[in-house]
Amino acid sequence: MYQNLDLKLTKELPRIEHQPIVWRSPSNIALVKYWGKHGRQLPRNTSISFTLSQAYTETSVLYGMKKKKGISIDFRFEGESNEAFAEKIRKYLASITDIFPFLVQLHLSIKSSNSFPHSSGIASSASSMSALALCLCSIEQQLFGSPQSDAEFWQKASYVSRLGSGSAARSVFPKLSVWGRHPEINGSSDKYALPFAQHLHPNFQKFEDAILIVSSSTKSVSSRAGHTLMEGNPYAATRYKEANQNVLQIVEALKSGDHEKFIQVVEMEALTLHTLMMTSSPSFILMKPNTLTIIQKIRDFRQSSGHPVSFTLDAGPNVHVLYPSSSKKAVEDFIEAELLQHCEDRYWISDRVGEGPSIIASDLLA
Ligand code: PMV
Repeated sequence: MYQNLDLKLTKELPRIEHQPIVWRSPSNIALVKYWGKHGRQLPRNTSISFTLSQAYTETSVLYGMKKKKGISIDFRFEGESNEAFAEKIRKYLASITDIFPFLVQLHLSIKSSNSFPHSSGIASSASSMSALALCLCSIEQQLFGSPQSDAEFWQKASYVSRLGSGSAARSVFPKLSVWGRHPEINGSSDKYALPFAQHLHPNFQKFEDAILIVSSSTKSVSSRAGHTLMEGNPYAATRYKEANQNVLQIVEALKSGDHEKFIQVVEMEALTLHTLMMTSSPSFILMKPNTLTIIQKIRDFRQSSGHPVSFTLDAGPNVHVLYPSSSKKAVEDFIEAELLQHCEDRYWISDRVGEGPSIIASDLLA
């Protein structure tokens, strides 16, 4: 839908900027998970996520015109060259020249940096791909004056982010976003995410996500391989149907402020994601014994304290502890006393629901 052959520089066009464009974009945590895709990065089911704030990527892009046609970049990650990442970026840029034809006319100097340690086991694809996609949309705006309106800009940024990493589509909107067409959600689409924060009940406006690092080693299955494994998973059809029902359930809970229903759906989604991996062929167990110990302790604490605290998981062993900011003191005392002993070097990241990406003067990218 965003293919546009006109976005090409002609001779008389335009003054090239020599100030880098810098975007900071956050990670997100899915409440209802995206797991299974088809075509050009299209989801098999609707997903919904909280946008985070403390786990983010900053990316800066400086561009200049060049003579030779083709993708040309230099790339530094946290101050050092990183050929593996550079190659990924080259492939990604080459795959979107139908959307941004001017990319073959430019040389891009890209620098990127994460707010969290690279080796923490925290997936950075959502924050890094959305940060880069936002830079590309800003370049288009500088060179061609489009997209014109804010709404168009953010929708395109979500679309372009999605082509880099599906879950990145959801990172561009504040607080809460939905990605994937759902018959009962107006405006939802497989191609870009929909901002959804306007539906949040005050109970969910200020929400914390304590990310407990159980293991920082890299995952034994990439999310790309995991999505592909869903094609042969015997429970796939049931899963996609259930995910779409869970989206409705959680939207209802988020709108009405119903903690109990929220907890029930979020925890079921986390365990379902891991069940799907365990029942794929080949099968993967990505939880560690400490993951289960932490989950059990969270449930016991919820029962005994009455605080509406829950857990969710990504495709890995680390545990996201979710709770309203009003319970922050009690839950953090509990984390300190009971959970950190099960984490690698007692490491955790105190994150919370955040306001989405921002264009910045960089403080990470020296
Ligand atoms: O965006 P990808 O392709 O890395 O897939 C992410 C999938 C999960 O993080 C496991 C779930 C989700 O919806 O974010």
